[in-house]
Amino acid sequence: MNMYQTSGELVNSWYAAGLASSFQKEKTLKVELFEIPLVCWRKSDGSVVALLDKCNHRNAPLSEGKIVHDCVVCPYHGWTYDGSGQCVQIPSEGPHTERIPQKKVEYFPTREAHGLVWIWMGRDTAPDKEPFPMPMMIQEKWHSYYMVTHFENNVTDLVENFMDVPHTIYVHKGWFRDRKQIRIGATVERTADSVLVTYDQSNDSIGFNGRLVNPKKLPMKHTDNFYMPNNTRVDYIFGEEERGFIITSTCSPVKPFSTIVYTLITYKFGWLTPIARLGLNAYTRKVINQDVWIMKLHGENIRQLGQSDYRSTQCDTMHLYIESLRKAAEKGDRIPGPITKEIEFWV
Ligand code: FES
Ligand SMILES: [Fe+2]
Repeated sequence: MNMYQTSGELVNSWYAAGLASSFQKEKTLKVELFEIPLVCWRKSDGSVVALLDKCNHRNAPLSEGKIVHDCVVCPYHGWTYDGSGQCVQIPSEGPHTERIPQKKVEYFPTREAHGLVWIWMGRDTAPDKEPFPMPMMIQEKWHSYYMVTHFENNVTDLVENFMDVPHTIYVHKGWFRDRKQIRIGATVERTADSVLVTYDQSNDSIGFNGRLVNPKKLPMKHTDNFYMPNNTRVDYIFGEEERGFIITSTCSPVKPFSTIVYTLITYKFGWLTPIARLGLNAYTRKVINQDVWIMKLHGENIRQLGQSDYRSTQCDTMHLYIESLRKAAEKGDRIPGPITKEIEFWV
């Protein structure tokens, strides 16, 4: 069974296929999600097509072919398909278009939103929601940029990592947060499709919360939210939204232990905002690469030794809730009920 078949209802969602700028007219782009290879291209009207990357004739990959008049031409014998997956020309049949088989190449719905192209991976369900609202704010006060990162681990363990505070004093030591043994309280809430964590840590300091970024030492509001099936959003807001730093990630599973993560960095640092990009880019790349490193080691370990029941403490409450929601969707089980818990831990 491939990953698609073992993922249950997790496939019934929009998954990011790439930055919108990667989809060019007259060029195929190969995308893989849940071990399903797809051929994508942008039509002259600007819309993006996604078809199963498999020609109906002898199953050659269409992604190796050319785009001609908004259609993809198979590299093997030239069967030509339009954006709906319908074959429109078979060169060996000459003018006899009536001999073209009616069976289409499988088609997947696409959307372009928030700087990304998304593909609806549910084969048996039509899209019943919109792609995740990435807070791509390009305006005077807020700036945003994407980082695209390949992680050698699975979506569940990655979203846990993105929502995890205690690892920051080890994996990101000296870069994000140092160990001070301060107490952090938090409220963790699980709804039918999200896990919301609100921290009580107004006096905590993090890597970029220095004199330049938060000169007035405004109290910090920190929330970590997970949204089914594959999105996290981490907000650090200083004062009454005077300054802020938001890290939003959407995970696209390629195959087991291989996931592409689109991380949107959204920030507002007062007068520094327009010039912060260069330094912030290097800083966020450094921190993400530290997570790439630990997630690779972690992935290799569970691949080799198997993934047994994780042991948990209070600070893992949000991870247990995430696991319960994703497991239920994967297995087709009943969604666990809403719950709210107060926790405390030390960093
Ligand atoms: S395999 Fe595609 S045209 Fe023959
Ligand atoms: Fe991290």
